[in-house]
Amino acid sequence: MNQIEDIQKEFQIDKEKLDYADIKEKYLGKQGLLTIALQEIRNIPDEQRAEYGKKVNDLKNEILETQNVEQQKTYSNKERIDPTAPFDINTKGEKRNRISLISKGAVHPITKEVETLVEIFKGMGFDVLESRQIDDDYHMFESVNFPKGHPARDMYDTFLTEDGYVLPAHTSTMQNRALKLFGPPPIAVVLPGRCFRNEATDAGHEHTFHQIEGVYVDKDISLGNMLATIKTYLEAYLEKELEVKVQPAYFPFTEPDCEFVISCPFCDKAGCKTCGYSGWIEIMGCGMIHPNVLREGGIDPDIYTGFAWGFGVDRLTMIKKGIKDIRHLRDSNLNFLEQF
Ligand code: DAH
Repeated sequence: MNQIEDIQKEFQIDKEKLDYADIKEKYLGKQGLLTIALQEIRNIPDEQRAEYGKKVNDLKNEILETQNVEQQKTYSNKERIDPTAPFDINTKGEKRNRISLISKGAVHPITKEVETLVEIFKGMGFDVLESRQIDDDYHMFESVNFPKGHPARDMYDTFLTEDGYVLPAHTSTMQNRALKLFGPPPIAVVLPGRCFRNEATDAGHEHTFHQIEGVYVDKDISLGNMLATIKTYLEAYLEKELEVKVQPAYFPFTEPDCEFVISCPFCDKAGCKTCGYSGWIEIMGCGMIHPNVLREGGIDPDIYTGFAWGFGVDRLTMIKKGIKDIRHLRDSNLNFLEQF
């Protein structure tokens, strides 16, 4: 009987200090103080057994009651619940570690990679301007040399609003703004942003993804400057020396138009799954900015030349981190996100 009273006293102290999960473990768990006390009942003399049983039960109810008290405190005090939260972050108990991780917040892997890349570009002297997530036909097409009815518009199938706005299919929408805003040359700017395409999604395609566009304009800029610049930042990002080459492509906004290809950073050209056993990976479109694009941006193409590129951050992240399905980067699965 004294033992129950001792447990009762200890509980009065603990309930001020511990939260419910710990209390439950200490008193009602497998080796809990009250659990053991209950097992003791068979050793209690007959005439005291009923009283003993009642005391144990009362204490048990009191302990269970602390859960309600704690919940009420949580809901009414500082820890407000967030009814819009997608996970059970408002509950307590076994998932506490994960909950505190979520409620503290964490940076999404793509945001982290954009930040890492932007830091590399800043170190190379580039300005930064974020792209728009809703834009217009002029910036999406006309300003980058796709006149109305141009067949290459079909390569950029995206979403339109009823009043004629466009969800940008690439960050090249920002080239004209960059030329006007940062001109006259020298201009060195990167334009990170979110892009959208009307895609049937699969492991390699998403309707929403991220690009970083680059624009560099000055006197006497050549394709050689472009190759060296792109090689330099890719080596900094992938932390690896790379062999690079370009192959022909087509974009209305560059002349010549190139596809930038790097030696596979995983197998050094020996051939592996990531590079499809070819030893090389096509990584982005790039080229010398078309004179029409420079002119439209208020820059005289007889005086200045420049280069531009646009690469997919999701794709680059997948290569760097060995992620096999691009859709993981959008589906908010904590088991996936917690790895980064
Ligand atoms: N906007 C192109 C795309 O998304 C990529 C690109 C190619 C951007 C060449 C450029 C460039 O700036 O010069 O397919």
